[in-house]
Amino acid sequence: MSTNSENRITIVLATGNRDKVREIRPLLENISPLIEIFCLRDLGAEIEVDETEETLEGNALLKAKAIFSHLAGRFRYMIALADDTGLEVDSLQGAPGVYSARYAPMPDHRPPAYEDNVRYLLERMQGIENRKAYFRTVIALKGCIPSAGGDFSFEHTCEGSVSGTITQERKGGEGFGYDPVFMVDGTGRTYAEMSIAEKNSLSHRALAVRKAVTDLNNILQQSSSPNRQPEKQ
Ligand code: IMP
Repeated sequence: MSTNSENRITIVLATGNRDKVREIRPLLENISPLIEIFCLRDLGAEIEVDETEETLEGNALLKAKAIFSHLAGRFRYMIALADDTGLEVDSLQGAPGVYSARYAPMPDHRPPAYEDNVRYLLERMQGIENRKAYFRTVIALKGCIPSAGGDFSFEHTCEGSVSGTITQERKGGEGFGYDPVFMVDGTGRTYAEMSIAEKNSLSHRALAVRKAVTDLNNILQQSSSPNRQPEKQ
């Protein structure tokens, strides 16, 4: 890719969560000096996307596309990056999965707190022997970047997954969400018994981010190859 500053590519992280931004930004910044990274809050972009799809892939792509359309007029070259995460429990046929944030039924229909979801999961798992589970993060990218053959538009998804077991009771005081009841295979500890740095080094989200960085690198390399044809819109 040429180093012409007109070819600057803006990556927009579809999250208001500062921890996620802190984790993702340094990994992406290393890809190319042409890349600048913002989160929605940096851009003053107010956009709420309802997660209406039935898969993590569907929701991640829905969010990436909505943010891309919302900001497309502001940047010539842009990539929107969105993620969706779910806990998938084998003996519950993959539940809570895409519904992880709103698993526990609440009497007044308000959104459940983390603690409500954990309590409900442990109740549903009472007496169940097979406690195998997976945490899975899907990252979706929707972008338009400069290429040797003209502007190149793409959509891409990738994932990171960590296997573990659902404990009988809560363990540890760190983390959030289902962390106290998810014991990571090969560690003998739940996510909530790990420091934030340790969790971030091996978590489903960290694996997905690393995969997204590798894939994005490949997409950028391929787009600058003279053999690349511009994508039909
Ligand atoms: P989101 O897609 O990142 O918003 O995650 C959806 C839901 O999954 C959250 O509301 C949490 O309940 C749960 N969750 C996501 N990531 C984690 C994690 O790293 N540890 C524990 N729970 C998580």
